[in-house]
Amino acid sequence: MEVIIQPNSQKLSVIAANVIRKAVIRKPNLVLGLATGSTPIGLYKLLVQMHKEEGVDFSKVITFNLDEYIGIPKDHPQSYHTFMNKHFFNHVNIPKKNQYLPQNIVENHVSFCQEYEDSIRRCGGIDIQVLGIGKDGHIGFNEPGSSFASRTRIATLSKSTLEANAVHFGDDINAVPEMAITMGIGTITDAKQCLLLASGLNKKDAIAKTIEGPISAMVPATALQMHPDVVFLIDEAAASSLKEREYYKRSYENKIKYS
Ligand code: GLP
Repeated sequence: MEVIIQPNSQKLSVIAANVIRKAVIRKPNLVLGLATGSTPIGLYKLLVQMHKEEGVDFSKVITFNLDEYIGIPKDHPQSYHTFMNKHFFNHVNIPKKNQYLPQNIVENHVSFCQEYEDSIRRCGGIDIQVLGIGKDGHIGFNEPGSSFASRTRIATLSKSTLEANAVHFGDDINAVPEMAITMGIGTITDAKQCLLLASGLNKKDAIAKTIEGPISAMVPATALQMHPDVVFLIDEAAASSLKEREYYKRSYENKIKYS
């Protein structure tokens, strides 16, 4: 596990964007797992900038989104389809056919989820999975109690997530869709590399439990402790409850010095 602590979220986005830029240059048909939420917006902005100003080419890149709400139309302002178009897909040259997102309807979800998993496998697996984290420690929409072996499936949002996401639905908790299709924890941890970004004081407890707490299905992101290549990119506020933060900083400084 690598823990990188930076003064602010902009610096996290820069590091994450550079990791992805390098990877796309090395492997033009990179398979990217993508996340939504406010955390990765800065990262998408930088990737768009790299495409427009430096000509970073995404034409062979394949993307798989982590999750999507069930029950709101794809073109709803708060759907993850809309989010991805607005912040990323509309501004780079990833072909539509290479953009995979979970469906927004419950019909045939079992076969849809199986097909989603098969598509990931057919593309050779996810090379880099971008992740945010929920206040309750969720990744994707894998809420506390999700099996570490879980695969893409239908899931119900926890109360904590409904409350956190109400801000995007006019502060009306009843307007937040209660269900979603999400990659499972097993799907996520199959990715060759995971990059988890977190910023802000409201993530400090989830981050402390995820990095330094016992591995438990009640904190789904703790599954990442067993991943061979996971990078936690966190700002000072989100890192503020970590006991070993001075050690993580020293380790990162040494890595930079000797690489
Ligand atoms: C949602 C998404 C997660 C995301 C989380 C955190 O519930 N399903 O994938 O990581 O919110 O969002 P934010 O980055 O806005 O704090």
